[in-house]
Amino acid sequence: MAYKAVVITVSDRSFWGKRADESGPAVTAMLREAGYEVCLETIVPDEQWQIEKAIADGADRLDAALVVTTGGTGFSPRDVTPEATAAVCQRMAPGIGEAMRAASLAVTPRAMLSRATAGLRGRTLVVNLPGSPKAARENLQAVLETLAHGLDMLRGGPADCARQP
Ligand code: MTE
Repeated sequence: MAYKAVVITVSDRSFWGKRADESGPAVTAMLREAGYEVCLETIVPDEQWQIEKAIADGADRLDAALVVTTGGTGFSPRDVTPEATAAVCQRMAPGIGEAMRAASLAVTPRAMLSRATAGLRGRTLVVNLPGSPKAARENLQAVLETLAHGLDMLRGGPADCARQP
């Protein structure tokens, strides 16, 4: 069975229609290619309460196995996606952000400027990606294959840790 996913673009400019959202559709395309059922793609501004509400909605109302955010992970004063993620997750999964940064440092030293994190809200995994379409794709690519094993564990599927890909 395909895991359900929600994609949230966090961007003031895209929310207010000043810039077309390319990152959300890019992430959705990658997830669909990997076999996920993307049931919602939405855009919120860089407001912590609105990011928290969108993540909680994806987890609690839609029961998505995976919620992916793109944007708001940098150092700008309004970049608060990691804080919103931590606020709505009961358990953090720092290894996912670490893996994305490790892979991305081979592409650009600016990878260290992403504060992207990941965490678990109930039976939902929340993963932050940076905001540019290029950065979002590169970061997701670094962890996409391994996320499935995490979701198998989270959702009580047949997760056999002894079997390596
Ligand atoms: N990671 C990869 N793989 N490729 C990139 O181009 N850009 C970096 C970083 N991570 C980048 C990347 C830059 S320039 C920034 S500022 C941070 O992600 C945070 O991006 P955000 O504020 O759009 O979330």
